[in-house]
Formats: sequence, C-alpha cells, structure tokens
Amino acid sequence: MTRAAITGVASYVPEKVLTNFDLEKMVDTNNEWIISRTGIKERHIVAEGEASSDMSVKAIEKLLKQTGVRADEIDAIIVATVTPDMLFPSTAALIQNKIGATKAWGYDLSGACSGFLFALKSGGSLVQTGHKKVIVVGVDTMSSIMDYTDRNTCILFGDGAGAVLLEPTEDEKFGIIDDILYLDGSGGDALYMTAGGSRKPASQATLDAGDHYLKQDGRSVFKRASKDMAQVSVDILNQNNFKAEDVAIFIPHQANKRIIDVAASRAGFTDEQVLINIDKYGNTTAGTLPLGLDEVVRENRIQDGSLVLLAAFGAGYTWGSTLLRYGPSRKA
Ligand SMILES: CC(C)(COP(=O)(O)OP(=O)(O)OC[C@H]1O[C@@H](n2cnc3c(N)ncnc32)[C@H](O)[C@@H]1OP(=O)(O)O)[C@@H](O)C(=O)NCCC(=O)NCCS
Repeated sequence: MTRAAITGVASYVPEKVLTNFDLEKMVDTNNEWIISRTGIKERHIVAEGEASSDMSVKAIEKLLKQTGVRADEIDAIIVATVTPDMLFPSTAALIQNKIGATKAWGYDLSGACSGFLFALKSGGSLVQTGHKKVIVVGVDTMSSIMDYTDRNTCILFGDGAGAVLLEPTEDEKFGIIDDILYLDGSGGDALYMTAGGSRKPASQATLDAGDHYLKQDGRSVFKRASKDMAQVSVDILNQNNFKAEDVAIFIPHQANKRIIDVAASRAGFTDEQVLINIDKYGNTTAGTLPLGLDEVVRENRIQDGSLVLLAAFGAGYTWGSTLLRYGPSRKA
C-alpha cells in the first residue's frame, strides 16, 4: 500500500525574542512563575508587517533548498493555521504565489494546536490518491491575537512556522503508519477568539471589547489537555502493537511543560525520548510539531526509518496523535 512519507522538514522563527523579563515589564508576572508553571523562558515574535505567509515562505524556501525540489514540482500546499494573513485569499494562495508553485493547488485548515496533525492527514490522503509532492505547513502568528495586558495568556504564546514535504513510498520502513484524530466542539468556550468572523465582524464595539484577542480558561484547557493528549498517545501505540521503547522520539505539542510531562510519563517515555523546546519558543500553536520535528532531524536525534510519535491538543477542542517512520530524507 502507498504511504505518505516525510522526506524533508524545515522551520523558521522570527528574529525578535520576547523574554520572560521583557514580559515582567509589560504585565504583573515574573520569570520564576512563568518557568515553574509553564516551562517557557522566551518566545519569538514577528517584526512589524511580518505575517504567517512570510514565515511559511521562509520555512518552505529552506525545505526546497535542502531537498533539491523546485517550487514548480509541488502538487499541493496545505496550511494549518488559526492566524492566516487575512480571512481570504487563503494563506496557501499567498504562499503559492510568493514561492512560484505554478502547478500547485491548496488550502488552509483550522485545527488550532492540532492543526498540523489534521493537515498531515489531509496531505497524506492526497499523496495516497496520486499527488507526488505535497507541502504541509504548520504556522501561527499568535502575537497578532495576543492581549499583552492579559498575564493569563500573553506569557504562553509565540510565533513560528514549520513545513514538511510529503511524497509517496511503497517501502514499509518509511511513512505515516497511523493516526487518531478528535474534535469535541463542546470545549469551544474554553479557548477562542470571537471577533473578525461572520458572527462578530470587526467593528468599533468589537475593538473596544478586546474581542480580537485570544481568550482562555487556562485551568479547563490544562485538565483536558493533560488527560486527552496522554490517552491518545497511549492508544496509538497500543493500537499498532508498539511499546514506548520502540519510539525514537515523542514530539508532543508544546503548550505547557507540565502537560508534556503528564503525557510522557503516562506513555512510559524516558526524558531522552521526549522533545521539549517550549523553553525557547512557547506555544506556536500549529507550528510546534514541525518546529520540533525539524529540531530532532537537525540535531541527529532521529535517522531515516526512526519511529516518531506526534501528539497534540488544542482549541475546539481538537486533539490527536500520528505515528510515522521518518524519511527517506531527500538531499539536494
Ligand atoms: C495558563 C496556565 C499556565 C495557568 O497555570 P495554573 O497553574 O493553572 O495557574 P492558575 O490559573 O491556577 O493560576 C494560579 C495563580 O497564578 C496567577 N497567574 C496567572 N497567570 C500569571 C502570570 N503570568 N504570572 C503570575 N501569576 C499568574 C493567577 O491569577 C492565579 O492567582 P490567584 O490564585 O490569586 O487567583 C495553565 O492553566 C495552562 O497552561 N493551561 C493550558 C494552556 C494551554 O495549553 N493552552 C493552549 C491550548 S493547548
């Protein structure tokens, strides 16, 4: 059976760094509280005028250079994001034009922190039905919807983008093996942004009410994320008859170090098996998983054929896990 294989990965974070000490000057918080409650030390923030498509293009340009693939060879571009440049045209369309992917079609997909897993599923299905080269992007410019007077949320998020190249493989040593994906809209009132859509179009009233900012009931999200990201990580291993020790690297969504620790210990992973980079980037929403994958590939923590487990939980609620064997990596 044809599988979709990840044959390359690259990422980009903006230059500007916002540290916990910077935030101490903006809201009533402190470095010790943020580190002990979340694990975050700093996050990257876009420059003025820089948006999700710009970060995505930077990541994709690196990806094409590394893999030796030309933009006009790409069949489709799928972009997971909750912070598109604008409502329409899609960020995928903006990227297509900027990189010159003349043959590609594509679309945006809104799965919040689980968006990259949803987009991998989507891209994988395209590959299994005949597409030869699909680019899947996870990107968010969370600083564009942050209320930097709200200490409950502004300390958590950062900006970043990651992109993978999906290609077909018949070799069982590689490719996406399985996934489990969920959507539970009853959690919609715990993490949301109400304004700017068709329910509450932008107006002076929505601006005055701060409805263009992300709002969160942190404790509710924390409880559900801890429970469900752990369970879905255990379930996908059991369902495929793998044990924790078979996994080369567990890449969990980076929302809170304590949520990651719960999932890692429930699934039985050692510290060495778990990718943690929340200290450097905070929660980049759809960006966390491809940023993590790029890091473990660059640092040689995995090789072609390594078993990789991705897991996420986010707004919606959305959550899930994807099990794959990395590679065969394409070198320019
Ligand atoms: C937001 C989050 C870090 C808060 O941590 P917490 O340990 O649950 O903290 P609480 O909300 O119980 O707040 C504890 C106290 O710290 C205070 N506090 C909140 N943010 C603070 C900050 N940045 N600095 C200092 N104190 C803060 C609270 O006001 C509260 O004070 P009180 O006890 O006087 O009311 C945590 O709930 C979380 O990570 N939730 C999930 C977020 C998430 O994953 N979102 C993305 C979707 S995946």
